[in-house]
Amino acid sequence: MTNAFSLFSSLKDQIASRQARVATVGLGYVGLPLALTISETGFPTTGLDLNDRRVAAINAGEQVISYFAPDRVATAVASGKFRATSDFSALSETDVILICVPTPLSPAREPDLSYVVRAAEGISSWLRPGQLVVLESTVWPGATAGVIKPILERGGLRTGDDFFLAFSPEREDPGNEKFDTRSIPKVVGADDQKSRELIDLFYSQIVSKTVPVSSLATAEAVKLVENSFRTVNIALVNEMKVAMEAMGVDVWEVVQAAATKPFGYMPFYPGPGIGGDCIPVSPAYLSWRARDVGSSLPIVDLARTNNENAPDMIAGRVAVEVSRRHGVAVSDAQILILGIAYKKDVEDTRVSPALAILKRLESMGAKVDYHDPYFPVMPLTRDDPELAGRKSVALTEDAVSRYDAVVVTTDHSHVDYGLVGRSAKLVLDTRNVFAKVGAIGNGAPVVKI
Ligand SMILES: NC(=O)c1ccc[n+]([C@@H]2O[C@H](COP(=O)([O-])OP(=O)(O)OC[C@H]3O[C@@H](n4cnc5c(N)ncnc54)[C@H](O)[C@@H]3O)[C@@H](O)[C@H]2O)c1
Repeated sequence: MTNAFSLFSSLKDQIASRQARVATVGLGYVGLPLALTISETGFPTTGLDLNDRRVAAINAGEQVISYFAPDRVATAVASGKFRATSDFSALSETDVILICVPTPLSPAREPDLSYVVRAAEGISSWLRPGQLVVLESTVWPGATAGVIKPILERGGLRTGDDFFLAFSPEREDPGNEKFDTRSIPKVVGADDQKSRELIDLFYSQIVSKTVPVSSLATAEAVKLVENSFRTVNIALVNEMKVAMEAMGVDVWEVVQAAATKPFGYMPFYPGPGIGGDCIPVSPAYLSWRARDVGSSLPIVDLARTNNENAPDMIAGRVAVEVSRRHGVAVSDAQILILGIAYKKDVEDTRVSPALAILKRLESMGAKVDYHDPYFPVMPLTRDDPELAGRKSVALTEDAVSRYDAVVVTTDHSHVDYGLVGRSAKLVLDTRNVFAKVGAIGNGAPVVKI
């Protein structure tokens, strides 16, 4: 038996018996649910994160992510199957290493792989024969083989012989009540047969269905294509919204009715723009890579531009509505932004269109406050550090009645829309939430924008 084969078959046995020790590098919105799911399946799991405060909170059993069951982290820690650490040397005692660190855009709006590079360098120092390394972070097709593999091989170990390398894109949808880590099918890909077999076997133990693909680049591309599809369709429905309104037609009603077609149509809903660390980023990665290889994606690029402009269009519409309905110039207007998270029921403001709208209205001279039950205080983010520390306004009738308009930017479930409808002078609803919850303001006009 060759050494490569014995390394492969011994890891295979460990995975099959769930004795393989697993590490996730990065304990964020993706890495933490993944680490917990793996430990809940029975694999001894270590979560590694550079953020000492997060590591301490996790080890103390804090809930950490709002949509988790309150005792999920505490139960995992108490089981003895899961712990968090910031010490990379822990990797030497693991068999499977999953990289779940951020892959944002650089200030020039190009792929920023610095976090994955740093994670790969950290792993490289502790890499030993017989380990399986899996990149989960969103990257452009070719990045795992072209950027990560050479870093891991620096110490002389060879992929496919001494250690194994795979890519499996994250499809986590924070706050989704229907699908979680376990029930979302997991795409798995690698460039050599042994790595392909190991990654498929590993995820077959954890998720309900794996979807094996033939290469690292294919698996990388799947994620970008999924999110680019979403990007294009969101831009399309927002474009439809403007045209439908000019025709006197409610786009929400149109989408709802169109969605009853059992084939050939999938509903996407209008909104204030796209946000989060994932959907806006993926098409930029794909487009960048397309240019890099001498191709192009003009439809994707146009959709990105439309989505990036969406918050400005909403801010412009707010200015028009307060002037037309109250005779108040936007420079004198007082506006309440309802919801700063990028989507409902999550505590995440990264790339949130609500913050872009808030800043745009302020640049027009308006006085803008916000209310968000998830953010009593505005957090520090990479893109909007100047907003950190602002405080959420309490949602009382008295407070709401003082604003010229309330702009609904996020449709959180736990907001008293009835109170807003009763006390606001004007509601500008980018999410159609007032119609959905039936909170038609008695007095306040509710305008879908
Ligand atoms: N959030 C989502 O909804 C989502 C969905 C699908 C895919 N993704 C992708 O998953 C990846 C991770 O995203 P996320 O939302 O979990 O990010 P996140 O910012 O929530 O978490 C990343 C964590 O990694 C830690 N970290 C950064 N560099 C590190 C390093 N070198 N070593 C150890 N820890 C490190 C950070 O401290 C942070 O806790 C990204 O590529 C993202 O595009 C995210």
